[in-house]
Amino acid sequence: MSALAPGSLILGIESSCDETAVALVRADRTIVAQAVASQDAEHRPFGGVVPELAARAHVERLTPMIEAVLADAGITLAQVDAIAATAGPGLIGGVMIGLVTAKALSFAANKPLLAINHLEGHALSPRLVDSGLQFPYLLLLVSGGHCQLLAVDGVGQFRRLATTIDDAAGEAFDKVAKILGLGFPGGPAVERAAKTGNPFAHKLPRPLLHTDEPHFSFAGLKSAVLRAWAAATDKSPQAAADLAASFQAAVVDCLTDRTRRALAVMPEATALVVAGGVAANTAIREALRSVAVGAGLPFVAPPLWLCTDNAAMIAWAGAERLALGLVDGLDAVARPRWPLDPDGETVRGAGVKA
Ligand code: KG4
Ligand code: ZN
Repeated sequence: MSALAPGSLILGIESSCDETAVALVRADRTIVAQAVASQDAEHRPFGGVVPELAARAHVERLTPMIEAVLADAGITLAQVDAIAATAGPGLIGGVMIGLVTAKALSFAANKPLLAINHLEGHALSPRLVDSGLQFPYLLLLVSGGHCQLLAVDGVGQFRRLATTIDDAAGEAFDKVAKILGLGFPGGPAVERAAKTGNPFAHKLPRPLLHTDEPHFSFAGLKSAVLRAWAAATDKSPQAAADLAASFQAAVVDCLTDRTRRALAVMPEATALVVAGGVAANTAIREALRSVAVGAGLPFVAPPLWLCTDNAAMIAWAGAERLALGLVDGLDAVARPRWPLDPDGETVRGAGVKA
């Protein structure tokens, strides 16, 4: 951060999925003000995120939220040093709304624009709260759209060691919640149910466990849950809790096994870091902590509010990039897909994620 004055203030905007978020973050890691508006109520009747509804909600909320966050901090746009917005990957309507808003503010106030990769926001977010976290580190990025193991060598420098060949972990949680009728959003609902369930009640598959294949796969596990629930005569809340707990235990085994394997091929890693919405899951965090301890590495997991989508991580990624002079022009494009490691090996499989 040497090239950036500690007081430099970055306005961050996030709108790539179903959270509208705005934050003001200083280069010295102070979060000056922030707001996150969830759209759960809009999407709940559909059991998943509806892109058109999401885009409309972002349009309605974003400008008043920017005004409110600036007012909360008692500053004007003229006092902001740069404007960072998610430019992808994500639902393209929402991404465009956030990026175009940031461009308009950047142009009107004559401030540098930072077009941020949402995944880089998640990847660098642990450094916002842990000033001691140095590159390179191994990152398990687990969210609704992604499940990847990344060697984070520096800002903008990522090597993808593994990805999912089908569903992302969060997607599997969301689908299992739907199958079991646990409600939306799915991840927290499954975790809640799993707390009262028996993880040994069902023998579920652990795809790719102990194989030389580095990648993740969750489609077979999800289908096994679907079959088990269809075959169940007892569909009581306790039965759903037992299946949720069995599913979560299988996910924990898959995530820890693949992470151990990645650590073995990245001996230079200084820490094991987990980020993304699924990192909010306590069972997953604790299992990964044990993996780190076993490898003699520090374990870093951002606080829960920083794991799920927020704008502080976007502002922080903006601060990291601004410090290196990595600013963007007003011609920056919104991208539905934007892999962190463009050289990452192409993996085969339905619904392969970037
Ligand atoms: O990072 P995020 O907020 O948005 C994306 O970029 O995808 O991640 C959202 C995902 C959803 O699939 C949600 O179900 C999952 O994270 N999630 C969880 C938990 N909290 C959120 N999954 C498991 N356990 C949780 N406690
Ligand atoms: Zn995310």
